[in-house]
Amino acid sequence: ERLKLVVEREKVTEEVRIVLRNIGMIDPRSIDQYIARDGYFALHKALFEMKPEQVIETIKESGLRGRGGAGFPTGLKWQFTAKAQADQKYVVCNADEGEPGTFKDRLIMEGDPHSVIEAMIICGYAVGATKGYIYIRGEYYGSVENIQKAIKDAYEYGFLGENILGSGFSFDLTVRLGAGAYVCGEETALLESIEGKSGRPRLKPPYPPTNGLFGKPTVINNVETFANVPQIILNGANWFKQFGTQGSPGTKVFSLVGNVVRRGIVEVPMGVTVRELIYKFGGGLVGGKQLYMVQTGGTAGTFIGVDKLDVPLHYESFRDHGVSIGSGVILAMDEDVCPVDVALNTMEFFEHESCGKCTPCREGTRLAVEILRRMSKGQGKREDLDTLKQIAITTQEASLCGLGQSINVPLLSILDNFREDFLAHIGTTACPKGVCRFEKPM
Ligand code: NAI
Repeated sequence: ERLKLVVEREKVTEEVRIVLRNIGMIDPRSIDQYIARDGYFALHKALFEMKPEQVIETIKESGLRGRGGAGFPTGLKWQFTAKAQADQKYVVCNADEGEPGTFKDRLIMEGDPHSVIEAMIICGYAVGATKGYIYIRGEYYGSVENIQKAIKDAYEYGFLGENILGSGFSFDLTVRLGAGAYVCGEETALLESIEGKSGRPRLKPPYPPTNGLFGKPTVINNVETFANVPQIILNGANWFKQFGTQGSPGTKVFSLVGNVVRRGIVEVPMGVTVRELIYKFGGGLVGGKQLYMVQTGGTAGTFIGVDKLDVPLHYESFRDHGVSIGSGVILAMDEDVCPVDVALNTMEFFEHESCGKCTPCREGTRLAVEILRRMSKGQGKREDLDTLKQIAITTQEASLCGLGQSINVPLLSILDNFREDFLAHIGTTACPKGVCRFEKPM
């Protein structure tokens, strides 16, 4: 039994590069080098050897789930759009990567832009869409440049435009830039922004697969999700399913940040543990310090203590163990970090990024910041902890979009898992970790 466990562990900890297979291997500005590594072969296969339904069936069968963070089944999403009746359909790539600490999509777009473009064309063929948009975070200059160059070359080579490779299928692709608003990464706010309106979320349902861009059926997927597609089409669903877990097949690209020795990006099969990510791939903590807390999944993710380091990460790990995978951030924090300060920092981010359209999010984030700011100044009260929890729950239940709906995850997890730190911060004359600046001795 022990040997079996060891073997399984070994299987999990190897790096597997599906999405990152070309990163560092090709010049991202050379379409020829992409083609030399089987680039656009999947598009050729889809167009000439597969019916649109077969493409969708393959993606469904592979079990690929949305890598933006929510893990919605990709093939199902494509099927919704394929079945919807409309004179025009769209494919949109959400490249407005805004989750603090996440920079995986940037690496993919800068290092292998054609993989995303190829996937979007395949998606267009599968669902019957002839137009696509890549909505890129405006600050990602390198991504914008490389994607634009790749689109230009793809047109020249006949992979984009009219009658692609003589197949009769046509597809056009355009780049749109974000302007620094976190909420524009929320899919409906993103669609509004492409339409030329202020980037504010719509009420869901209806969902974009049936009512998306300009009200038309629209597949909207994250960069990493798309980047998996060509390899799945080329190698088949069963090949993809050999990696990862049963419920979350494939790999995940993680961003390792914070006090780890090797900050950066790593692609590993789903099911990897936080411990492996921090100690094996991240090289442990800087200065040999003790790990104190980790935020998994991004700002909207969970704060966990060292007792949860061995939880396998996949799309059910939040439901099963209270550890979210989200967009794949692993933010390691050492013993010198104060959870009250971290909670304040997190809520200030949400308050700043709340678009203000709905009251629960606008006021909930503001109230949470007000209380946490008071606590960090040494003026906190015990009742504040319950009030913060109530704010978290109300904001989650009543907010219009994912931004407000997700503040309960970081807030409740930090209050639950680090309650002692919050209590130790109350009724004392100095921050126990010496991080927060108390205004005056109590
Ligand atoms: P969601 O669960 O509402 O939706 C996920 C996807 O599934 C969407 O595309 C939605 O349209 C689709 N969907 C859900 N139910 C559907 C249905 N019944 N019919 C058709 N389509 C359906 O989650 P949301 O708000 O889109 O994303 C939340 C996630 O975003 C969080 O998990 C968070 O980790 C992540 N996130 C990622 C960021 C990044 O920079 N990558 C930034 C902020 C949050």
